Amino acid sequence: DWTMPDFIGEAIARIRAQVGDEEVILGLSGGVDSSVAAALIHRAIGDRLTCVFVDNGLLRLNEAEQVMATFARNLGVKVIHVDASERFLSALAGVADPEQKRRIIGRIFVEVFQEEAAKLPRARWLAQGTIYPDVIESAGGKTKKAASIKSHHNVGGLPETLNLKLLEPLRELFKDEVRELGIALGLPHDMVYRHPFPGPGLGVRILGEVKREYADTLRQADAIFIDELRRADWYDKVSQAFAVFLPVRSVGVMGDARTYEHVIALRAVQTQDFMTAHWAELPHALLAQVSHRIINEVAGVNRVVYDISGKPPATIEWE
Ligand code: XMP
Repeated sequence: DWTMPDFIGEAIARIRAQVGDEEVILGLSGGVDSSVAAALIHRAIGDRLTCVFVDNGLLRLNEAEQVMATFARNLGVKVIHVDASERFLSALAGVADPEQKRRIIGRIFVEVFQEEAAKLPRARWLAQGTIYPDVIESAGGKTKKAASIKSHHNVGGLPETLNLKLLEPLRELFKDEVRELGIALGLPHDMVYRHPFPGPGLGVRILGEVKREYADTLRQADAIFIDELRRADWYDKVSQAFAVFLPVRSVGVMGDARTYEHVIALRAVQTQDFMTAHWAELPHALLAQVSHRIINEVAGVNRVVYDISGKPPATIEWE
């Protein structure tokens, strides 16, 4: 019978046996899987793990600070924080097509990661937070998600381009077990129970061309939405929630002045498997509060709309 303390003990022994006295590198995204993998491997080999956190300019508000606080400061994990936002954003300039944006973000990520790996010549292992559902997905070939019309991998190509052995200590775990493990390893509840966040980040939540100014606006609106969901105790009742930046302008009025500003769409869904989803029936008072705060606090936005589309036919993300 499976217990968490047994699992941790065995996993640590296995990691130590595999890695020996070699060093490991891991791409930390701030998501649940890579975070739990980092905490577990750190428990096993301490300073012989180096994490690389790449800021692509498309992260949520204060994401980098939170990751650094949790891992570098609280857990004492070695984390290299790479601010590559300028590089990502300039590569994205003028690009509007969603799949092309994904490819660019994926490619630059691999380049940046490779450059960081080259600075760690003693690293022999690439650790990844691959979990059991990911394993079945790639073994099964044409599973539903693999056949999806969107390219879903932000780190695709990483193992192939680096001459490193793969370390995947979560390969046998389901998501709920990964979460339980994260808690047992001392990760914060909010990190372990956070909604999924796509690899291309805000890059696919800013429709069309990505600009730093749009990303800054969207980050603020998104943070307000998430903050209000948490306060109203709705965060854990939805599977995913976020704001989307619409690069169109509509007319509004502020005092006696006419405004002509951008639109923010809110999306919140409930789903079991992310293959189909219902839009969440959030209380009107909550939506009103979010709208009020975004329009008053976020410069450049004068209108907020709520997405009432199911999947299918809409997807969860807008791109
Ligand atoms: P869709 O929009 O296809 O999203 O209904 C289903 C789930 O997948 C996530 N998603 C992505 N995750 N890279 C990722 O890592 C991507 O390019 C990507 N596109 C969508 C989405 O956030 C949702 O959880």
